[in-house]
Amino acid sequence: MAGPCLNKSMEPYFYQFEEELLSLSDRELLLGIARNSFSNFKLYSQSDNVNFLKLSDMVDFDITISDSIRNLINSCSLQVKVMIIHHKPHKPGIRHLDTPTNGRNCVISIPLYPLDMYPPTLFWKSFNCEIPIVKATYQNFYPCLFNTQKLHSVDRNDRERFNFQLCFHEQFGEVLELIRNNKLFNSL
Ligand SMILES: [Fe+2]
Repeated sequence: MAGPCLNKSMEPYFYQFEEELLSLSDRELLLGIARNSFSNFKLYSQSDNVNFLKLSDMVDFDITISDSIRNLINSCSLQVKVMIIHHKPHKPGIRHLDTPTNGRNCVISIPLYPLDMYPPTLFWKSFNCEIPIVKATYQNFYPCLFNTQKLHSVDRNDRERFNFQLCFHEQFGEVLELIRNNKLFNSL
């Protein structure tokens, strides 16, 4: 029965990609970088138990990544910031909007871990409603473009959660338009 939490693309909250942007081996490489550099993660949100690793801050990032990861980043037609986000397990997801000035008005989020039970991103109409409007489930562990300027939270389970993010200053609708017209990545 149709309901408010269908697992499908739902504008203006998120867009579910129907194919990979990075292969499984590339995602495993990024997960390895995250685990090896875990002491370099910085606190993103204390209340939401989120940490981040900005890859441009790593001295050896450019030689550590594969050609295909480098191509994905370099082929982007918009200026992009890349980072790995870590969510601690066993925590309630805090509903929030990302700060509009931090260059993350929308992000392409690529699941890295866990790839068997990857927690979804939930979007909410208000801070106190009981049922989310819609749920981005990262079908087949494919990426989602999601709108950080809509009220959202990240579900948690008993495992930590890592994802690789391409972050855009542009608004969700603008980036989605480029994706739909195959203009976001020049060489893909
Ligand atoms: Fe967020």
